Amino acid sequence: MAAVDSFALLLRELGRSCAHSTEMLALLGAFYATKTCFAALRETCTLIRVHFLPRLVGGADLVQRYGQWAVVTGCTSGVGKSYAKELAKRGVNVVLISRNKEKLEAVAREITESYPVETAVIVADFRQGREIYPAIERALKGKEIGILVNNVGVSYDHADCFASLTQEKIWELIHVNIGAANMMVLMVLPGMMERKKGAVVNISSASCIQPSPQITAYSASKAYLDHFSRALHYECAPKGIFVQSLVPCFISTKMTEGMGVFSKESFLVPSADEYARHAVTTLGISRRTTGYWPHSIMLLFGRCLPECFWAWGCNRLVFYSHEKHL
Ligand SMILES: NC(=O)c1ccc[n+]([C@@H]2O[C@H](COP(=O)([O-])OP(=O)(O)OC[C@H]3O[C@@H](n4cnc5c(N)ncnc54)[C@H](OP(=O)(O)O)[C@@H]3O)[C@@H](O)[C@H]2O)c1
Repeated sequence: MAAVDSFALLLRELGRSCAHSTEMLALLGAFYATKTCFAALRETCTLIRVHFLPRLVGGADLVQRYGQWAVVTGCTSGVGKSYAKELAKRGVNVVLISRNKEKLEAVAREITESYPVETAVIVADFRQGREIYPAIERALKGKEIGILVNNVGVSYDHADCFASLTQEKIWELIHVNIGAANMMVLMVLPGMMERKKGAVVNISSASCIQPSPQITAYSASKAYLDHFSRALHYECAPKGIFVQSLVPCFISTKMTEGMGVFSKESFLVPSADEYARHAVTTLGISRRTTGYWPHSIMLLFGRCLPECFWAWGCNRLVFYSHEKHL
């Protein structure tokens, strides 16, 4: 009889504690749902603030805000060329730095024929490393550099494992993707600090937000640039200088040429002109952005993906980029 009593008691106690656990679970669920709603609301507000409001209210006066001249590296095609044109459209004079003199002069001509600005060209091959910088510094002397766009960048010829890279390719990635941005910032920062104004835009890549196999050294170089920009911003913001890290997804340029869906112009893969038009409006507004709102939505999902799914996606890139070289 005593055993039956204690069994009934046990059942009662179990029932009570189950009710408690159900309440606890319901509370946890409500907390999680509220947190997710707030996060979604915050991301939507950021999207509107960074990508839509600036275009509605019209762009800021970049010359007044940062200075008369901008320097754009790697500007004879793709994003660099389009970004230089966007700056010129806003009245900023541009110094164009790239490795091919004829192409540089053609871009300079195109800009001066379309917009009432001055241009200057500097021929430099960033693969050569530290020896090219004294000449660039001499050529920039006397110009009030208000905006520096570190755009120059190289990727792999096709996605592949790190062990297949040549030493030459690895040094190219280091000199062009990392070295150039560091040296150019070092060159223009003192002037900006003196004038207490300026902006540095470092073009990184969405490939840096998670480990990206098959483009390991490229994505790591872009992760360097992203961290460099974000830390630099904290050093420079109190001195009136804005540092931005741009982390775009795919853009239809020479770099993505022949990569199937990743190279064909579409809503998710903008042309360089379309991308630059969006990205310039985020200057001075967001320290870290894709620069193009559909990419920002894509990146929201990308960040939530478990690392193994992201890595699986990168491995699929091999298929597309090998296809390009068939
Ligand atoms: N396209 C994308 O999907 C994508 C996505 C994320 C991030 N990004 C980044 O955006 C930036 C621009 O990419 P993009 O697609 O516009 O590239 P792109 O079309 O290949 O253009 C690269 C530019 O850099 C110049 N350049 C290359 N190597 C150079 C060197 N050693 N010295 C001097 N100039 C050099 C090229 O000159 P030449 O005309 O002489 O070759 C060209 O003007 C890069 O930093 C890239 O990593 C691109």
